[in-house]
Order: sequence, then C-alpha cells, then structure tokens
Amino acid sequence: STTVTYRVYNTPAEVAKAAAELFTSSVTAAANARGIARVAISGGTTPKAMFALLADPSQPFVKQVPWDKLDLYWVDERCVGPEDADSNYRMTREALLSKVPLPAERIHRMEGELAPEEAAARYEAAIRNGFKLEGAETPTFDLILLGMGDDGHTASLFPHTEALNEMNHIVVPNHVPQKDTWRITLTWPVINQGREVAFLIEGAGKAKVLHEVFQGTYQPETYPSQIIRPASGKLTLLLDAAAAAKLPEP
Ligand code: 6PG
Repeated sequence: STTVTYRVYNTPAEVAKAAAELFTSSVTAAANARGIARVAISGGTTPKAMFALLADPSQPFVKQVPWDKLDLYWVDERCVGPEDADSNYRMTREALLSKVPLPAERIHRMEGELAPEEAAARYEAAIRNGFKLEGAETPTFDLILLGMGDDGHTASLFPHTEALNEMNHIVVPNHVPQKDTWRITLTWPVINQGREVAFLIEGAGKAKVLHEVFQGTYQPETYPSQIIRPASGKLTLLLDAAAAAKLPEP
C-alpha cells in the first residue's frame, strides 16, 4: 500500500519553492549515497517556476545542487523538435539548463523530432546505457517529478491509451487519440520504481480531478495517475490551495 503525503501551500510560488527544496535535497542525498543522482522531470507548465528558482543566482539552490553528479532525464516528451514551442526539452532549456552548470552530456532529452517508435527505442537504450542496466533490469530513478492533467493523465499516460498496458518496456511511444497526437513516455512500472516520486499540481482547474484520483474509486484506465503507487510505499503531492480545494480537511 502507498502512503500519500499531501503538502498543501497557499500559492504556486510556495509550491515551486518546496519543489526546488525537494529537488535539491533529493539530488544531494543520492549524490552523497551513490555518487550519482538520476532525476526524471515532467514538462507542461507547472515545473517552470521550480526550474526558475533552481537557476536563480539570488536563491541558495544553484550553489547547493551538485550539478556535476546529476543525470537529467524526462518522463515524457511531445513529438516535436527541440526548438518547437511545445517541446518539454525546450521549456526546460530556457528556464533551467541554459543557466546552470549541468554538462551537456548529462542532459538526456527524448528526441521528439524522430518517429515515435524510434525515439522511444533510442531513449530506452540511452537509459539502459546511463544506468548500466543488464538483461531485464529496469532503472531506479532517484527522483521522479510528475504533473497531472485535468483528465487525470500523468507523464504521457493518457486515459484509455495503449501505454497503460505496457509492462515490458522502459519507454514507449503512445498514441493519444483524444489529442490526435503521439507522445513518448516512461512506462508506469518504471515510474513506480523511483526512490522518490512526487506530483506537482496547481490551480482550481485540477481540484475536481485531484479529488477523483486520490479519494475516488480505483479506475486507472480512466484516471491514469491512480496507477502511480511507488514500490517505496511513499508518494508526495505538492499542491497549491486551489488544487487541494476539494480534498478533505487534514
Ligand atoms: C507533458 C507532461 C504532462 C504534464 C501534465 C500537467 O508533457 O505535458 O509531462 O504529463 O505534466 O499535462 O501539465 P501542466 O503542468 O501544464 O498542467
């Protein structure tokens, strides 16, 4: 069973600060324990403020994060090139990567410009290589930061899509009919294997689905975020008050 920790903050700015602190402490702990920290981040819009804080020279984070020990991965990507306005990589580059001393060879982006099948296969190979996996081994990320859509999707695990049935891969292409598009995504067993897994969710537009996902009946085909039940037994939700509005009082 999973213990869900709800951390509710008044404003998105406070959520971003808590997320930057979680990122910094988690990367530092992994680097100290194992000499390397492997983190998988989400795209969308929510992580942007956390990235800005991590990169801000007037904040403590940029000096605290052991950038030379960090390997950065993504949980998902849109099928567009790295210069496209929809690219998760591009958002991260502009908000974070262009401003911090993270060596280029430690930035592992999904190649959204390739055919989805090829991009997924190449990313799976990059992960296997980066984690030095052998045989059927699967990766254990030190930290996985997730977002959630107002339809209950997380990463690019959308309701009623093929990727929800995928158990044998690390990364898959996923056709998303409701968006008439393809995505590339980590699979849910890999997300659940993360040492630390957290959702960042903000805004009144997420309040209803947040309640349904975490307080409602288990129906992961409809609400894929419900499938996130980390093997560690621990799941952290960083929420602003608007998103948490329909949750029961603590
Ligand atoms: C993506 C994501 C996705 C995202 C949610 C929430 O590529 O779109 O990684 O899973 O986290 O859609 O997005 P917002 O943060 O924009 O609400």
